[in-house]
Amino acid sequence: MIGYELVKKYNDLGFEVHGITRSDKGFFDGYKNINKHFIDITNENKIKETIVDINPDFVINTAAITNVDLCETEREIAYKTNALAAKYIGEACKKLNIPLCHISTDYVFDGEKGNYVEDDEINPINYYGWTKAEGEKVLNELNHDLTSIVRISVPYCISPVKVNFFMWVLNTLKEGKEVNTVIDQWNTPTYVPELMDGIVKIYERDVNGVLHFGGGEKVSRYEFTLKVAEIFGLDKSLIKPIRSSELGWKANRPADTSLISEKSEKLLDIKLKKVDECLNELKKII
Ligand SMILES: NC(=O)c1ccc[n+]([C@@H]2O[C@H](COP(=O)([O-])OP(=O)(O)OC[C@H]3O[C@@H](n4cnc5c(N)ncnc54)[C@H](OP(=O)(O)O)[C@@H]3O)[C@@H](O)[C@H]2O)c1
Repeated sequence: MIGYELVKKYNDLGFEVHGITRSDKGFFDGYKNINKHFIDITNENKIKETIVDINPDFVINTAAITNVDLCETEREIAYKTNALAAKYIGEACKKLNIPLCHISTDYVFDGEKGNYVEDDEINPINYYGWTKAEGEKVLNELNHDLTSIVRISVPYCISPVKVNFFMWVLNTLKEGKEVNTVIDQWNTPTYVPELMDGIVKIYERDVNGVLHFGGGEKVSRYEFTLKVAEIFGLDKSLIKPIRSSELGWKANRPADTSLISEKSEKLLDIKLKKVDECLNELKKII
């Protein structure tokens, strides 16, 4: 989802874009300045060779196994993709001395404290979070100065690629069906259009290090769902507050992984918008 949006963004800005993916879903067929490379990023030689052949000005790693419950059972592939492949990509970027932006997650935190800043101690409580934390660790150990690690949280936008949490809520309410959302998980959801502009600025301003890129507001999943209903004029009585323990997830979910994104706001000269404002923007383009 994030990779697709970035390809679109950079194409719109007039760049030559190389998308590395493992399967052709037909996106961007016929686009003149978008080149596709079909590669499994866990194949060390292939991914390194491909980056070296392209010799790009900037690499953004959005690939990951993102299904939190799947990571709990498919541990080897999750580790290879989320940690080892990040290392291979980092090594190729270091060799070419090109900047790398690696996308990470709020799930590197245990969710006990909330309002996390970049220097807070990480302590993942599920395997997905652990593999993403390992991805950050291997990149930090590489000491490639031109590396930014951008932690995001419940990204939302209108996506043709993936039904994200926002789209699931919107579609389900539009169908007149009940939506059960949890009252005991808080995040600062990342508004994807803002993230796109932020990543462009990360490159332009040569920003490196760990950055939090949540949204401008902390909400529970339940509160977010109510906001979607309110702004899109849908029936709030379909929304049922529940607790995480009722959902029978395989992986533990951290309770409060809200991110303080003031460092990003300062370095990128942006002001992250509140959820209502972002939802109103989405309403205009739906
Ligand atoms: N979505 C969230 O809620 C969330 C929250 C916080 C952070 N993040 C982070 O944000 C980043 C982007 O997430 P997203 O929501 O855009 O995820 P996504 O839609 O699931 O995209 C991940 C992509 O990685 C690709 N991929 C996985 N293994 C690969 C491999 N071995 N070789 C090549 N490609 C491979 C997948 O390809 P296939 O389509 O072929 O599987 C998929 O296209 C990830 O780093 C994720 O950890 C996401």
